[in-house]
Amino acid sequence: MAMLLGPFRGSALIATADLADPGAESVILGSGMDRIDIVVVRLGGEIRAFLNECPHALTTLETFDGRFFDADDPSLLVCSTHGARFSALTGLCVAGPCLGRALAAVPVAVDDGIIRVAADG
Ligand code: FES
Repeated sequence: MAMLLGPFRGSALIATADLADPGAESVILGSGMDRIDIVVVRLGGEIRAFLNECPHALTTLETFDGRFFDADDPSLLVCSTHGARFSALTGLCVAGPCLGRALAAVPVAVDDGIIRVAADG
């Protein structure tokens, strides 16, 4: 993860004003071989970010843009490929084919209303 995020340390992801609560948005950083897709999540005032890559079959979580949450439980993110459920705050898979595995956490920091990839950590 450290090498993957290295070029993107400090990069802006999204303004806090543009992220609902609950809310989740995919943000693409880089391009080509250096492209990464990060899902930024806000829930109950807490902000988290994860690589948008399911640990089961390495697909992105959402089939439709912006649809990340379980319709019946907004504390859970859903992988639309095979239905895995992940804690929106920890990334831990709590149901589905990758039970016990987790989304890769991306450390973030909020700076003057902008959510950024943390400069370190
Ligand atoms: S790829 Fe996500 S549950 Fe299978």
